[in-house]
This record gives sequence, structure tokens and C-alpha cells, in this order.
Amino acid sequence: MNRKWWHDKVAYQIYPKSFYDSNGDGIGDIPGIISKLDYLKDLGIDIIWLSPCYRSPLADQGYDISDYYDIDPRFGTMEDMDRLIAEAKKRDMYILMDLVVNHCSDEHEWFKKACEDPDGKYGNFFYLRDKKEGELPTNWRSYFGGSVWEDLPGTNKQYLHLFHKKQPDLNWENPEVREEVYKNINWWLDKGLGGFRIDAIINIKKALPFRDYEPDRADGLSHIDKMLEEASGIGDFLGEMRDRTFKKYDAFSVGEVFNEKEDELPDFIGENGYFSTMFDFNETIFGSSPNGWYDAAPITPDDYKKCCFETQRKIKDTGFVSNIIENHDEPRGASRYIPEGDCCPESKKMLAALNFMLRGLPFIYQGQELGMENVPFSSIDEVDDISSLDQYKVALDAGCTEEEALNSIRRFSRDNARTPMQWTSEENAGFTTGTPWLKPNPNYVSINASSQLDDPDSVRSFYKKLIALRKNPEYKETIVYGSLEPVWEDRHNLMAYYRKGDKTLLVAGNYQREVQSVTLPSPYRRVLLNNYPDIETEDTVITLYGYQVLILEM
Ligand code: GLC
Ligand code: CA
Repeated sequence: MNRKWWHDKVAYQIYPKSFYDSNGDGIGDIPGIISKLDYLKDLGIDIIWLSPCYRSPLADQGYDISDYYDIDPRFGTMEDMDRLIAEAKKRDMYILMDLVVNHCSDEHEWFKKACEDPDGKYGNFFYLRDKKEGELPTNWRSYFGGSVWEDLPGTNKQYLHLFHKKQPDLNWENPEVREEVYKNINWWLDKGLGGFRIDAIINIKKALPFRDYEPDRADGLSHIDKMLEEASGIGDFLGEMRDRTFKKYDAFSVGEVFNEKEDELPDFIGENGYFSTMFDFNETIFGSSPNGWYDAAPITPDDYKKCCFETQRKIKDTGFVSNIIENHDEPRGASRYIPEGDCCPESKKMLAALNFMLRGLPFIYQGQELGMENVPFSSIDEVDDISSLDQYKVALDAGCTEEEALNSIRRFSRDNARTPMQWTSEENAGFTTGTPWLKPNPNYVSINASSQLDDPDSVRSFYKKLIALRKNPEYKETIVYGSLEPVWEDRHNLMAYYRKGDKTLLVAGNYQREVQSVTLPSPYRRVLLNNYPDIETEDTVITLYGYQVLILEM
């Protein structure tokens, strides 16, 4: 495998709106991020992915871009952005922006021009169809609910939006659209970006000609997955994008890829793949139901283990996946993957180590390093996210009570991850001196960065040790490039694996409150990391405490 500059890095996702507010307007901003770069450097972060901060009406929190060449004034200015890139560089850090090119905003000038002249150049930037009374062009359900078709204002046409109606899909079949995208990517890379996280990219290739699919809910609509499964040829677009942009700059790219076809993996992330890496969502999609969040099955520790190993077996050394515990679209991993009632510093550290030591690139989402948890929403009025509002309605329509519907929102709402970063125990978690755009999680009084920074036993300090271990010259080769071999796989509530390279490491986590013992094939040489102060051994038998995790050199 050709070695790449990013293989041994550790990445961190910032959700700018909720990270740090520098001017008291209640909205996180780029100067706020700059002021926290040292916090991230101290943690050991190399790569920072910024969720979108381009000019946007923020209908989907910036994933609806109205100007790809501008920064939204709520987040700062282009000078701030240039300064962020430069300040990161000074600290040997790289900035990634979010590339949102399946769709733009309905306030983008391309869309406005398409409304003015749907048969002209810009009409062909979108998917437009003639409007027929009482009949939609297709029966596809948008990811955020309702039909994917909306009237094109001022015309007798309708436009396609797989996401929100304020996010019209761009027509990638049109070479002019692709040229615009490549031009923009290169413009940003010329500014010195490290690369991009690539949003919702699997959606850019539609199955043509459009047709209806089997309805899967009482609304008579069909999930978009069925159309995407049928679409082939995305590789032509992605390969072209790689060659025209990332490749020339040796830039880093991480794809948000769901339901790729298994035999396409090498094309996506193999040598000369479309992307450097892509996220592993196997755990996040586990248990999901076509009916909606209210119907999703919970994930157990054994399921979690199975999901992780499944991905590892699938990828092997084809390339590098990016491993996450959570992101801005998911609930907090601590609340999701740790059995109810057992969320505590030990279990959070165990989850961290089990995930972090997997083969691949670790991504930390803001606040994960503090062990931030889901929000105890007391009413749907406390929720802002459009996807949660839709899912609340879906649950009610399916016959759930308000409490049941709210429970599904508590479990899955994207706002669980979008509350302000918990910096201190002071008012508003130290995120803003003004009124925060979204209420902080009330547990900021006990879970916050300032109380964890100097505490050697805090969750954050544990993350810091994990990162330091990954960078330790003695173990780096094994942790970055070594193979992964599951061990004691059938043991209930135990997740353990070897990492084998020039060293052999054993990672073992007792995924329950009760103790459980394991017998090592040989005595270990050294304890590299332990979330308890001690280790209970007799010969080669180790009795693991509740949620104890060990990283041992064998
Ligand atoms: C991706 C983003 C999500 C957004 C969607 C539409 O899934 O991560 O936040 O809503 O794409 O852009
Ligand atoms: Ca601000």
C-alpha cells in the first residue's frame, strides 16, 4: 500500500454553529474556532472537518448553500476563513470543508435563474419536469418527508429535491454543472485547504429515466434507496471529480457513502480510489426501520461488536475506513451504544478505545471527547432539526402517542449532537455570552471541558492518551497499518481484537457492569492503556471489571 500523508492522522469534526461563539450573538463562528485551535492541538488533533459555513439560508443548517464562494456572515468573513486556514497550518493542522454538491439552496443564483427561464441554461442545472395536475413525476419520498417534487416558482414545472424543498438537486448529468463543481473545489484547494468531507454523494447519480417504485408506507411513496440501487455509473462522475480536483493537490477526501455496492469498494477507497476514505456507518444504520425512527430496534453490545467487525472484514486492507462514534446527524454515541443506565466515564472510555483502535482513521465529533450525552428533550418545541420534526410527525401518523413519538426523538434526534459544545460550568456552558440558538444540554454543569482539562482521569484525558498512543513511534506502525483480528468473538458482552503489525496488541473491553475474565494465550508484556487504576490478573487470566478496557502489548 502506498503511504499517504493522512494515514496516521486523527480527525475532529466541528459543527460551527454550536462550537464557540466569539461575539455573543448566540451562534458559533469562525473566530470562535480559531480561538479554540490550541484546545484541539493539545488533544492531538491533526485534521479538522468543518460542517458547512458557506453562505446559506440555514434551512438545513448550512447543507443548503446559496454561494459556494462566500462565508455566511453569521459564521464570519472570508478573511476569517483565510486566517483559520493559516492558523491551522501554523500548528501543522489541516482544514477540511464540507462539499455539498448533490444539491444547492433554492436561494442560489442558479436556481433563481432556472425559475426565470426554466428552458434556458440554468433550467438544465436541475431536474425539472412539466407539472401535471393531480400527478407527480415520480412517487419518491424525500429524506426529510413528503414528495421529492415541488412547484418551480413562477413556472408550470416542478423540480426534484431528495432532501428538503429548499435543497434542489443539481443535475450531474449536465457537464456544465460538473465544471462548476470542480472549479469551486479547486478554488478552495488553492486557498490551502487540506481537502473535503463529501456530503450525501451517493445521491448524485439517479436512475434514468425516472420511474415509480413500490410504495413502502401508507403515504403511497417509496424510499429513495430503491431508485439509488438501480442507478449505475456513479463512478464516471466520481473518477472525473477525483482526477480534476483532489488528485492534483494530493488532497484528503472522505465520502459520506451509504449503500455502496460491495464489489465497488476498491473503486471507492482502494489505491487511486474516488476518495481517500469513507465513513463506516454500519453501526449507525443498525436496527433502522423503513417505517421511521419510532420503529427502530435498539443496538446491543453484541450487535455493536458485530457491526464493527463486519466492516473490518469487508475492508481488510483494501483501504482505510473512517471510524466514528457519532456525528452531527446522529445521536450521541455514549447514549446510543452504552446500555441504558450505564453511561459513566468508564463505559465512555471503553467505547472510545474499542472504536479508536479499529483499523482506519479515527474521527471525533465535537464534545465526544468530553463524553457528551443525548438531550432530555421535554417537548418537541425544544427541537429545531427538520429531520426530527418530520420523524415526530411520522410517528404520530403511525399511531404513536405524543410521548412515544417524543421518545423516538430523544433517541435519534440530530439535535442531540447539535447542542452547544460544553466548555465550562458557567451559564450556557460557556458557549456564548448571549442567547444560544439551541439550548445547551443541562448536564453541562457536570460534563464540560474546563473540569476535564487538568483531570488525568477525565474522559478527555483518556482520549488524549488514545491519540498519543496512536502517534507513539513505537506503536504507530501497528496501530495505523496492522491487521485486525477479532478474538473471543462469541463471548457475550465482550469485544476484543488483536492489532498485528511489527507488534501485537490486544484490545479488550468488558461491555457490561458485571466482571468477566479472559484467558490470554500468553502473558502480556505491557499495559498500554487501562481505564481503571489497576488490572486484576492471575497467571494469564485477567478479570475485567465492569466496562474495563485494556490495550495490551503481547
Ligand atoms: C448529509 C448531511 C446532513 C444533511 C444532508 C443533506 O447527510 O450530513 O446533515 O442534512 O446530507 O445535505
Ligand atoms: Ca457568533
